[in-house]
Amino acid sequence: MAKIEEDEGTRRDFLFYATGGVAAVGTGAAVWPLINQMNPSADVKALASIRVDISDVEPGTQLTVKWLGKPVFIRRRTESEIKEAEDVNVEELLDNLARNDNIPEASADDQNRSLDESGEWLVMMGVCTHLGCVPLGDGAGEFNGWFCPCHGSHYDTSGRIRKGPAPENLAVPQAVFVDDTTIKLG
Ligand code: FES
Repeated sequence: MAKIEEDEGTRRDFLFYATGGVAAVGTGAAVWPLINQMNPSADVKALASIRVDISDVEPGTQLTVKWLGKPVFIRRRTESEIKEAEDVNVEELLDNLARNDNIPEASADDQNRSLDESGEWLVMMGVCTHLGCVPLGDGAGEFNGWFCPCHGSHYDTSGRIRKGPAPENLAVPQAVFVDDTTIKLG
C-alpha cells in the first residue's frame, strides 16, 4: 500500500513538473510578442521629432520643453549674453568642440552653437554632461549661463562648460527653424 502511494506521489510529481515545463514554454512564447511590441513603432518614431512654438519667448528668457524624455532649453539670448559668448577665446575652453549635432566636429565658437545667424537662439539639451542633472538657467553660475548644483558645474552663456566636473559643453540637438516662430527638434 505504502509502495503504491509512493508511486502515485512520484507520478504526481512528474506530472506537476511536466505541466510546469509546458507552462514555462508557454510563458516564453507569450513574452516574445510583448517584447516585440517594445520595438519603436511608427507612433514612437514620430515623437522623435517635435515642433515648438517660440512666439512667446522674450529676449532674456527661456522655454524648457520635454523631448525624448529629456528637457531641452530654448533660450532667446540678449545682446549682452551673445557678446559675452562671442568674446570668449575658444582655446581657453575646457571643451573645444561645439557638441552640436547639426555640425559635428565643429569648434566651440559661439556661432557654431547658436541656431540662427544673429546668435539670438540657443537650443541645448538641459542635461548636465557630468552625471545628468538638470542645470539651473537664467544667468546662473559664475559665467552667467547655467549652473548645475549637483556637483558645481558652471556653463557660460553659450552653454559651454567653464568650471566644475562636467567634461563637455551642453549638447546641442538636431534643430532647425521651420518658420519664423517654430523650431523643429529632431
Ligand atoms: S551632474 Fe552636474 S555637476 Fe554633476
